[in-house]
Amino acid sequence: MKLFDVYPVNDIIIEKALGSHVWDEKGTEYLDLYGGHAVISIGHTHPHYVKRLTDQLNKVGFYSNSVKMPLQEALAAKLGKISGKEDYQLFLCNSGAEANENALKLASFHNGKKKVIAFRKSFHGRTSLAVAATDNPKIVAPVNETDNVIFLPWEDEAALEQAFQAHEISSVIIEGIQGVGGINVASESFLRKIRSLCDAHNAVYIADAVQCGYGRSGKFFSHDHADVNADIYTMAKGMGNGFPIGGIIISPKIQPSYGMLGTTFGGNHLACAAALAVLEVIEGEQLISNAATVGNYLMEQLRTIPQVKEVRGRGLMIGIELPETLAHVRKELLAKHKIFTGEAKPNVIRLLPSLALTKAHADEFLAAFKAELAK
Ligand SMILES: Cc1ncc(COP(=O)(O)O)c(C=O)c1O
Repeated sequence: MKLFDVYPVNDIIIEKALGSHVWDEKGTEYLDLYGGHAVISIGHTHPHYVKRLTDQLNKVGFYSNSVKMPLQEALAAKLGKISGKEDYQLFLCNSGAEANENALKLASFHNGKKKVIAFRKSFHGRTSLAVAATDNPKIVAPVNETDNVIFLPWEDEAALEQAFQAHEISSVIIEGIQGVGGINVASESFLRKIRSLCDAHNAVYIADAVQCGYGRSGKFFSHDHADVNADIYTMAKGMGNGFPIGGIIISPKIQPSYGMLGTTFGGNHLACAAALAVLEVIEGEQLISNAATVGNYLMEQLRTIPQVKEVRGRGLMIGIELPETLAHVRKELLAKHKIFTGEAKPNVIRLLPSLALTKAHADEFLAAFKAELAK
């Protein structure tokens, strides 16, 4: 059987990984500033994470949501404490798309309304409603098309107000920092405007924190920079440091009922052990403040480089906009300097490293980047 060929891949096989580094089958070392697409939050194969998962696997790896799960309760308590959202409720699933799908659905169950506001350049995943709220017609199949999603220009407060006047809005879904769209940071005033319009119109504010959440921005949720509380936060990527787990946390004003949401795999024992290990490391190693410190340092340094058009981001979610003539630099960083980075079309290099990235790693990248630009 052949693989269904949907991914343009790098010709590299990764055989070993530790911290912010990975190695290929020939033993070549790479600096990983991509983290498998913002997934590696605490560093590859962190010993505490490996031990907690191994211990759990030796006890019980899986049982469904038909029995009591103290691990889920422990995860909810820890997440509440670290995120500062102790009065929220946790529902666990398996991926970012699923988290958004559940959030949009839950919002509609809650207020009985249908229309969703999403923004230009958004990416919310590939399941039916999540993809319908994603601003990329190429990945929306005819069966996913719906007139329930209204796309608005990014940061346009007047358009937002107008949409609330014209439609019965169920929810607004927004990434605090757009990832796939090119690292666009939502302004504090825009997020506050969404909060006040949702309050005024009984709409649900959904913070898509799948990529920008979990400490990456230098605060637990990037929406925290604006000092607003969303009604639902969706999470995935960094949550399990590579173990597939997603989740939503839900404001106390939204009430659950049996059967409203559900999943077979979501919140299983191994997934919870992975997520608990991640939070224990984030807390124990103060990785959120490290993300802020090393991220600020990187951005300050990058802003001094004359060839760079713009540096956007917060914490360790950084976009480096290059002129078209330098579009090849990302490939050279990988081929010549053995540094993995991400991209956003057309010419943005995306840095999404582990939150444990050190200043020395940042300097290694800066030196390689400057050397490439000097050519
Ligand atoms: C902001 C955002 N939301 C949702 C998703 C979808 O997550 P997943 O691929 O786990 O379904 C992504 C994935 O890149 C994302 O960046």
